[in-house]
Amino acid sequence: MIKVNDRYFILETKDLTYAFYKMETNHLEHLYFGNKLSENDLNETHVKLTAKAGSMVDYLEEKGKDIPLDMMPLEYSSYGKGDFKLAPIIIKMPDNTFVSDFVYDHHEVIKGVLNAETLPVGHADSNEAETLVVSLKDMKFDIYIELIYTVFYDANVILRRTVLKNKSKDIISIRKIMSMMFDVYGSDYELMTFDGGWIKEAHAHSVKLSKGTYVNASNTGNSSSKHNPGIILYEKGAHEDFGSCYGINLIYSGNHYTAIDQSNTGILRLMQGINPEMFEYELKSDTVFETPASILSYSSHGFNGLSKNMHQMINHHIIPRQFENNVRPIAINSWEGFYFDFNERKLLNLAKKAKALGVELFVLDDGWFSSRNDDTQGLGDYDVNFKKLKSGLVGLSNKIHRMGMKFGLWFEPEMVNMQSKLYEKHPEYAVKIEGRIPAQGRHQLVLDLCQEVVRDYIVKEISQIIDETKLDYIKWDMNRHMSDFYSASLENQGAFFHQYILGLYDILDRIFNKYPNILLETCSSGGNRFDLGMLSFGPQIWTSDNTDPIERLFIQKGVSYLYPPSTMSNHVSLSPHAQTLRKTPLDTRFNVAMFGVLGYELNFKMLTTFEIKEIKKQIEYYKLHRQTLQFGQFYRYNENQYVRMNFLVKGVKKSFIGNYSILAQSSPYLELLKAKDLEPQTNYSVQSRPQKITLDRFGHLIAHALPIALNPNKFLFRLVNKYKQLDNANESFTVSGALLNHGYKMKQQFMGTGYNEHIRLLGDFGSQIYEINQLHDDITTN
Ligand code: DGJ
Repeated sequence: MIKVNDRYFILETKDLTYAFYKMETNHLEHLYFGNKLSENDLNETHVKLTAKAGSMVDYLEEKGKDIPLDMMPLEYSSYGKGDFKLAPIIIKMPDNTFVSDFVYDHHEVIKGVLNAETLPVGHADSNEAETLVVSLKDMKFDIYIELIYTVFYDANVILRRTVLKNKSKDIISIRKIMSMMFDVYGSDYELMTFDGGWIKEAHAHSVKLSKGTYVNASNTGNSSSKHNPGIILYEKGAHEDFGSCYGINLIYSGNHYTAIDQSNTGILRLMQGINPEMFEYELKSDTVFETPASILSYSSHGFNGLSKNMHQMINHHIIPRQFENNVRPIAINSWEGFYFDFNERKLLNLAKKAKALGVELFVLDDGWFSSRNDDTQGLGDYDVNFKKLKSGLVGLSNKIHRMGMKFGLWFEPEMVNMQSKLYEKHPEYAVKIEGRIPAQGRHQLVLDLCQEVVRDYIVKEISQIIDETKLDYIKWDMNRHMSDFYSASLENQGAFFHQYILGLYDILDRIFNKYPNILLETCSSGGNRFDLGMLSFGPQIWTSDNTDPIERLFIQKGVSYLYPPSTMSNHVSLSPHAQTLRKTPLDTRFNVAMFGVLGYELNFKMLTTFEIKEIKKQIEYYKLHRQTLQFGQFYRYNENQYVRMNFLVKGVKKSFIGNYSILAQSSPYLELLKAKDLEPQTNYSVQSRPQKITLDRFGHLIAHALPIALNPNKFLFRLVNKYKQLDNANESFTVSGALLNHGYKMKQQFMGTGYNEHIRLLGDFGSQIYEINQLHDDITTN
């Protein structure tokens, strides 16, 4: 997997090669990252400089070392020795200059993953991964950079990170240090980023790159839903199933930074790491600084090919090992059903109804503690609100457990309301600056996780509740961006953001190392911290507070480029939707939520008997297929997503296609049902998920279809609507994988000329699921 031949460093995964070369100057030339290459070819991947450009700076005058570093594709660069492309590292050196010059010193190859002291770096058995550590030394001082590369063979992923070691006798100050950097030739690339905000997370955007630097970063103190840390760099023209693309993501939950810099010579430099904005880290003599790790992958089969690698990496090497391939329970969450307005009776009723429908996990969300009757008070306190929970948490948990359900609880451990017992006693625990009124978000301040005493408090309080209530699940929320950055525990405030994240990881580590079987779902006002750092501690994330299925299609699609369905927690809620007021069919709400970890977040009292029965069927269906739905390979389609969207998840012998209509078209196109990557010579049976249509979909039009003229505004209509539903284009057929890959002609959609049970009635926001099962009888052709 890792070969070091003479001056060549060759890293191989199952399908990819990554290579660099030790130059005469002992700097590292980046050679290649792409599909597997022979070693012979690698000799041909060097830059071929045959002429000098005016105003260039040569590294040294000496023959062979008179190289203009600016013209070289490099593996990592220093500062101030003639490379004018964007610098990955800026350090104030012992001589008070900012000039550094890191060159090869030695290297070492290690089996498996090399753990970091402070940050998550993925995991693997020693036969699944190999690590190369290349140590570079500054030409003047005893200061070293270790470039660390771990090859995850099967996942086609290379993890990169940097460690700075100060072996000089002086303090140095780090202003910028990237986890990784590499240079490729090419002005033909575009960028895909995943941006948004609260309730509109991870929408995919294409960015045209031009000369200069494009930055995708966060400065909110968390990875943020403004800009996810993951990006895709792709060759113009690439799409879901075709073309060259690089995917890069950071295992970090704080302020991140990815820069793509196009030089005048056409070199594209890519780097990723901690956001240098407000970053300044003083490194004492004989101490080290570890950057977070970046993961890198490549595919020549378009974005779906890249997703496959990234998904495999996350499912097998990022999320905690004990959750690998471990199917996740179906939850009922109390938030959208009750918000703060609940008591034990209401909760038990909700749990009882949910249990009867097949739900496995009951989650009590915000509002169970202290004086927490709205969002202005109580955060930071852990005493149970006995006015709401008359038997306390322990009583409630016992009752839920006795029903045969798992019990889960919401926490927002990183926050404090000024109206709380904690704040009264320890105002110094909050992040704020003497002499300034701290800015609040959702009436709360951030707790200073840089302080050990604060971390100890959180660990102690949560552990006690876990012990008493025997929690099976924790939802870990975080509902505001940071401001007034200051920690009394830091000599240098430039380290604040990073130390906060290290503090957070320390807390998570201490709690979940002790209680490894608690399922941790992280959340930050929805997907404000949807990142690989949080996934290293908990295998699933609350994707968005937005449960409107149409909005969720865009959000889940965006997230799916770099994260697998098993990481996305998706709930079915009521319609019209709290965030959009959009009315959507119950089927569509399920048909979208099922591509991930399913849950429900609603008050069953608001549902009709028909809807309750439908939910029971949904849960049965999901349980039967959840291994595939959570861990199968997810694919997207190239399509006009404002008209329709399709999702595909492919398991070992079973696949599912979700076919969604966004806006109904009059006289809609005839459509194909298209699978991907099925065995061409094998037969598959296809079966739509049985769905019914209620009469109210037709409103006044029903008067033309039924023998008795029903008025939609009258009681009789509502009564008939309760008991009479129509079949809707249920399809069942058997064809070859070849035909399904090519596209199977679906039944026609409704177009206003009458309705019968063969017509697919989707309309606005309608959808259908197709289950595809591989049959044993291979087709024999002659
Ligand atoms: C924000 C979360 O995203 C919601 O799901 C819910 O837990 C609320 N916080 C509770 O305050």
